[in-house]
Amino acid sequence: MLIEAQNISVKIGKRSILNGESVCCKPGIMTALVGPSGSGKTTLLHCLGLLLPVDNGSILLNGNDITNYRTVARRRFWQEHAAFILQDYGIMDEESVAFNVTMQSSIIRKHISGNKALLMQSLEQTGLKDREKELAGHLSGGEKQRLALARAIYKDANVLFVDEPTASLDESNRQLVIRLLKEFAKRGGTVIVSTHDSEMIDACHTIHQISSKK
Ligand SMILES: Nc1ncnc2c1ncn2[C@@H]1O[C@H](COP(=O)(O)OP(=O)(O)OP(=O)(O)O)[C@@H](O)[C@H]1O
Ligand SMILES: [Mg+2]
Repeated sequence: MLIEAQNISVKIGKRSILNGESVCCKPGIMTALVGPSGSGKTTLLHCLGLLLPVDNGSILLNGNDITNYRTVARRRFWQEHAAFILQDYGIMDEESVAFNVTMQSSIIRKHISGNKALLMQSLEQTGLKDREKELAGHLSGGEKQRLALARAIYKDANVLFVDEPTASLDESNRQLVIRLLKEFAKRGGTVIVSTHDSEMIDACHTIHQISSKK
């Protein structure tokens, strides 16, 4: 899927956070959103993922204007196509690791629903093997991010919105996450990553520097 921001502006209160920002995120490509802390990387990522409305400009999906998608259409986009790997939220702490991946619950709470083989495969790929019955709230910050990645793999999402995926990871898990994101793009997925990490930036095909004019 081709996701574009065209000339978008976002204001919070009187402050201009993004001012006429344009970026084109292509399928099969990893696009890095880069810039200093506070420059608006997360804000841009959220706008592209329809999590945050824009004040001006457009968001396009495969060339179609989706800026004013209503709630139902936005939800369908999230459910069918998108996966979010964001810092500090998106994981349901009170639910099991398995539920957070499959998003399906069983009548018997301890049982696992959904495609078990795929669940196990996605956990194994993200270094969370045998953790399916644990409470997600007991995972560390880096483990939660990998859990969100396991969910994206399980769902076979078309577009990944990823915020600072390697910030809280050690070297080997950093390599793991970079490799998994590359594999996503290789299979034709659109990967959009906000990052400071130079290794992550090196792995991306396109680098978008947030404009400094505010
Ligand atoms: N909900 C909000 N209310 C007020 N200000 C906000 C809000 N969200 C973001 N901002 C401001 O917008 C600016 C851009 O924030 P954003 O999180 O997009 O930056 P960033 O480039 O992702 O930074 P970092 O590298 O530190 O994650 C910041 O100055 C921030 O204070
Ligand atoms: Mg940020």
